[in-house]
Amino acid sequence: MKVALAYNLKKEDNTKPEDYASEFDSEETIGAIAGALRSRGHNVEYVEASQPNLLEAFKKSRADMVFNIAEGEKGKYRESEIPAILDFLGIPYTGSGTLSLAVALNKALTKKILKADNIPTPAFQLFTTGKEVLDPQLKFPLIIKPNFEGSAKGINRSNVVENQKDLYLKARELIDVYQQEALVEEFIEGKELTVGILENGTCNVLPILEIDFESAKKSGEFFYSWRMKEFQGDDVQGLTPTFHCPARLDSQTEKLVKDTAVKTHRAVGCYGISRTDIRLSKNNIPYVLEINPLPGLNPKESNFPIMAYAAGMKYDDIIEAILTSAYQKRKAENG
Ligand SMILES: Nc1ncnc2c1ncn2[C@@H]1O[C@H](COP(=O)(O)OP(=O)(O)OP(=O)(O)O)[C@@H](O)[C@H]1O
Ligand SMILES: [Mg+2]
Repeated sequence: MKVALAYNLKKEDNTKPEDYASEFDSEETIGAIAGALRSRGHNVEYVEASQPNLLEAFKKSRADMVFNIAEGEKGKYRESEIPAILDFLGIPYTGSGTLSLAVALNKALTKKILKADNIPTPAFQLFTTGKEVLDPQLKFPLIIKPNFEGSAKGINRSNVVENQKDLYLKARELIDVYQQEALVEEFIEGKELTVGILENGTCNVLPILEIDFESAKKSGEFFYSWRMKEFQGDDVQGLTPTFHCPARLDSQTEKLVKDTAVKTHRAVGCYGISRTDIRLSKNNIPYVLEINPLPGLNPKESNFPIMAYAAGMKYDDIIEAILTSAYQKRKAENG
């Protein structure tokens, strides 16, 4: 198959906040995906998605399929830009479509959808100006995060607050720096879990990954903050969480968590691949934080491959599964 690999290459920009480039992909990830595709006999062409002549580049590629990992660059719905262009050009692509990619990037909207489907998600309130009166039903500790970011951008230790003064300080900072609404959420103490799905007609749930921050205590971080993600594995800073895959759960809880991830994947209308982030409360309620329809695919560091490896897959198998899923969907649609 002729495959165009669409991505936004990570490049530093000193005029932007220090976490600006975190969601984009490294040459290592792009090279690994291209290598995996080639090893399965596909022809690969690279399409950098921030180029001004993107439409022409896709047209010229004459690809049978676009392997889409492009995060997009501009605005609150940036992840749906490339799929929208591809829909317009009539070129099929891997993974979720425009609507799901846009919805998943809006954490508050995703949570409204989850609530409507009776999927547990932490109680929340959206701050637009930072001058709103706090909903008296929300119980401290609270966490406050940018509503339209990923890769834990803008999420650090000081985002978990115990009182109104710190909450409003952080709210105004986030609204100012990220130029978007801030999501205020109850902070759920408990296990950090993430659940990978590879869908091929049916949803195959990978072994659940549990991330334990006990071993990273000396870093001063206690959850999956930006620093923890960005410098994961850095011994000097002590940013060394412990991964358990499969997660240490009894079989009933494991089923509950997996079912919750499948329901989330369906509620948001995702396709092909997703990773749902969950906090399991002390009384065993799997609170969904968010769903990632474009989870990181770095072969060494990203959470999604770790789960697929635990299922016995190799990196090439993951990439081929994502491609096959898109191909089969297209075939089913076209009869
Ligand atoms: N309500 C919450 N309760 C407890 N921890 C939370 C909560 N919200 C966020 N966190 C912590 O912050 C991390 C990042 O939050 P979240 O997953 O919402 O952000 P993100 O930027 O979309 O992440 P990703 O890197 O997965 O795209 C979570 O993995 C978790 O450790
Ligand atoms: Mg997350």
